[in-house]
Amino acid sequence: MVDRVATGISGLDKMFYGGIPAESQVLLTGGPGAGKSLLSFEYLYRNAKAGNASIFFAFEEDPEKIIENAKAAFTDLADIDAIIKSGRLVVDREEPTGELISATNKDEDLFQFGSIMTKIESRISETKATCVVIDSVSILGIMVKDVGTYRKYMLALITNLKRLGVTSIMTMEMENPDRNKLTFKPEHFIFDGIVALYQTGESTRRVLTAEILKIRGTKHSFTTAPYEITPSGFKIFAAEDITPY
Ligand SMILES: Nc1ncnc2c1ncn2[C@@H]1O[C@H](COP(=O)(O)OP(=O)(O)O)[C@@H](O)[C@H]1O
Ligand SMILES: [Mg+2]
Repeated sequence: MVDRVATGISGLDKMFYGGIPAESQVLLTGGPGAGKSLLSFEYLYRNAKAGNASIFFAFEEDPEKIIENAKAAFTDLADIDAIIKSGRLVVDREEPTGELISATNKDEDLFQFGSIMTKIESRISETKATCVVIDSVSILGIMVKDVGTYRKYMLALITNLKRLGVTSIMTMEMENPDRNKLTFKPEHFIFDGIVALYQTGESTRRVLTAEILKIRGTKHSFTTAPYEITPSGFKIFAAEDITPY
């Protein structure tokens, strides 16, 4: 039996046959507006509510904005502020990316990345978080211009998170949110799992679907599942709902 961390998002847990295998480092990729930030926020919110200390590293947006967006989208989840106040869900307020922006060469990049890593690790130990989100890791790629260096950093990041024993979701922009145009890069393969959010469709109505592309250590759904972002959270219509395996 694999230990699992339920995401608390029922359709997604069905797709994972119960939850993300514990201590997995999962990539959540999708186009802009697919719901990566909201889905990863909901993962932490649900876990915090269940008693698992959680931390959200907001690299892309102001942490206040992340909370504001979540409250605006999930109006039925009235206890978001209370959960945050309880300290079980921490939206980290440091903005480590500023340091990488200011780095002017590879050595400085390395130094700054090291200090980001140290901050992430110390915040995880301070909060005793077991569920972690980094939103997004694309931003590191933008800042560290050399692609080889970026990949090395990503590997170091994942290795460190694994050593800390946390179960993480890291978001990454997808270059083309169309499933047929999905391309993989070396940095994708270092993750234990990959979840993709696609936006397809017609000019008049956007169709959102989720798919697990890989997850080490467990079986998972092999079909794409339509999803909606509703006031009470993500509704993911897993095929497993309809046809039991
Ligand atoms: N207040 C809201 N009510 C309903 N849906 C919302 C609301 N705010 C955002 N959304 C949905 O969430 C999407 C943005 O989610 P977000 O997690 O920020 O995307 P990403 O991080 O993938 O760019 C929007 O495209 C919209 O569909
Ligand atoms: Mg986002």
